[in-house]
Amino acid sequence: VKENPLVSERTLVLVKPDGVRRGVVGDVISRLERKGLAVVAMELRTLSRETAEDHYAEHRERPFFGELVDFITGGPLVALVAEGPRAIEAFRALAGATDPVKAAPGTIRGDHALEIGENVVHGSDSPESAAREIKLFFPELG
Ligand code: PPS
Repeated sequence: VKENPLVSERTLVLVKPDGVRRGVVGDVISRLERKGLAVVAMELRTLSRETAEDHYAEHRERPFFGELVDFITGGPLVALVAEGPRAIEAFRALAGATDPVKAAPGTIRGDHALEIGENVVHGSDSPESAAREIKLFFPELG
C-alpha cells in the first residue's frame, strides 16, 4: 500500500558544498528537526560528475548546467533524507525561493545566501523527483 503523503513522505535534502563550507549544516538540520521532520538517512560525500549529471539530468539543456555541475562537485556536501507529513513541500518552504535574494528572511536561503548559483540547499520538488533522487543517493533505502 502506498503511504499517504499527508501522514508520511520522504524528500531528498542536500546541504550543498557552499553550505558545508560556510558551516550551516547544523543550522539546516536543526531547522528541519524543529519543524517536525525526521532525518532517516544522512551522508557527507563528494559527488562524482556522473552522479551530479544524473541528479540534475532535467537541467541538462540549461545554460548554467556546466556551472551547476562544477559547483555541486566542488567539495563535500551533506545528503540526507527527511521524513514527515508533506515533507517535500515542508522542506521547500523552509528553504525559501531558489533565488536567495527573493527568498524571504527567516528561510534558509533568505538567511544564508545571496547568489542563485550558491543557494546552500536543495530539496526535491515533487514525489517523482524525490523517489528518483533518494534512489540515486541512498539506493539501500529501497
Ligand atoms: S527549481 O527550484 O527547480 O524550479 O529551480 P530552477 O530555477 O529550475 O533551477 C534548477 C537548479 O539550478 C540552479 N540554478 C542555477 N545554478 C547556477 N546558475 C544559475 N543561474 C542558476 N539558476 C538556477 C538552482 O539552484 C536549482 O538547483 P537546486 O539544487 O535544484 O535547488
